[in-house]
Amino acid sequence: MIRMELGKNSYNIELERGNLNRASELLNLDRKVMIITDEGIPIQYAEKVAGQSKEAYIKVVPQGEGSKSLQTAEEILTEMLKYQFSRKDCVVSVGGGVVGDLGGFVASLYMRGVDFYNVPTTLLSQVDSSIGGKTAVNLAGIKNIIGAFYQPKAVLIDPDTLDTLPERQLVNGLFEAIKMGATNDKELFDLFLNGGLPKYPEGTASDSSCRWKENLDLIIEKALLVKKYVVEQDEKESHLRKILNFGHTIGHGFESAAHGRYLHGECVALGMLYMSSEEVQEQLCEIYENLGFELPEFYSFNLEEVKEAVLHDKKASNRNCSVVFVSEIGKGSIEEWPMEEVLERLEF
Ligand code: GLY
Repeated sequence: MIRMELGKNSYNIELERGNLNRASELLNLDRKVMIITDEGIPIQYAEKVAGQSKEAYIKVVPQGEGSKSLQTAEEILTEMLKYQFSRKDCVVSVGGGVVGDLGGFVASLYMRGVDFYNVPTTLLSQVDSSIGGKTAVNLAGIKNIIGAFYQPKAVLIDPDTLDTLPERQLVNGLFEAIKMGATNDKELFDLFLNGGLPKYPEGTASDSSCRWKENLDLIIEKALLVKKYVVEQDEKESHLRKILNFGHTIGHGFESAAHGRYLHGECVALGMLYMSSEEVQEQLCEIYENLGFELPEFYSFNLEEVKEAVLHDKKASNRNCSVVFVSEIGKGSIEEWPMEEVLERLEF
C-alpha cells in the first residue's frame, strides 16, 4: 500500500495482485455504487466490484475519448438521480484513463461531490492517470478542458487485470512509466535498459516482452512513487507537476494528427525524443527497441497538422510554453520556451 499524503484529501493506493477480489475489504461498498466501465474492458472486472457491493449499477460507456463528454456525464448523473443516489453513495471507475477521468468528473458533480474510487485495469492508468485527482471531459475538440481536481477516496490496483490487456496496450502504458523514470527516477528508467533486465536471445517481440514483464510489479510501484512524490508537492499543477507532461506537448500534436493510428503512449514515446538531449535520445531508442516498439514513421504525419495541434493544445496556448526537457536521466527540468522554439524542434 502506498499512502498519498494530501492533508484531508489523503488516500491509500492499494497495489497487490488479487486486490479485485478484496474490493469490499479495501473500499466502502456497503452503499449504492455507480460503476462506470467501457465496452473495451472485460465486463467481469466491473461485475466483480458489483458482486461485492450492497446495491450496484453498472454503466458501460463506448470505448474511446468520445465518452469523455458532458453528454455522457449527464447520462450517468441522470441515472444516479433516477436510482436515488444520496450524498453518502459513491462512484467507482473500472477501466482505463477515459472512465477514470469521466467517473471522477461525475463524482465531483453529483450533489456537489460524492466519494470516488478508481480501479484502473490498464497499465497506463495504473502507473499514471488513476492517481492524482485530475478529472475531466473534453469540449469542442479540446481534450480535458472541463474538469476539476477531485481526489479519489482510494485507488485499487490489481496487476492481475493486466493479463487480459493486449501487448500493444501494455507497452503503451510502459511509456508513461518510462517518462516517470526519465524525469525523476534513474533506477526506474534503468529497469528498461538491458543492464537491469535478464538477457534473452535477440529476436522475437515475445523475447523482448518477457524482459519487462518480469519487472512489471516493480515498474508500477516505482512509477507510483514518482507520481506520489510529485503530486504531494504540487497537487494543482502550479509548477512541479508539469514535469509529468514530458513528451506530451509534441506528443499530443502527433496523437491528434495520427487520427487514431497510434496510441497515446506511443505518441508520448515519440514526443519524448524531441525534448531530450542526444544522450537521452539514444537511451530512449535502446529502450524502444527492447520493447519491440517501432517508432511511428515521422513522414507518415502531416507536419503542419502536428504543429497546428501543438498550438491548439491548452498547455501551449500562450506565446511562451512550459516544456519539460531531459538532458540527464532522472533530472527533467521545467522550462519556459517561446512557442516558435517548440515548433522548431519538429524540424530536427
Ligand atoms: N498525467 C499527468 C498528471 O497527472 O499530472
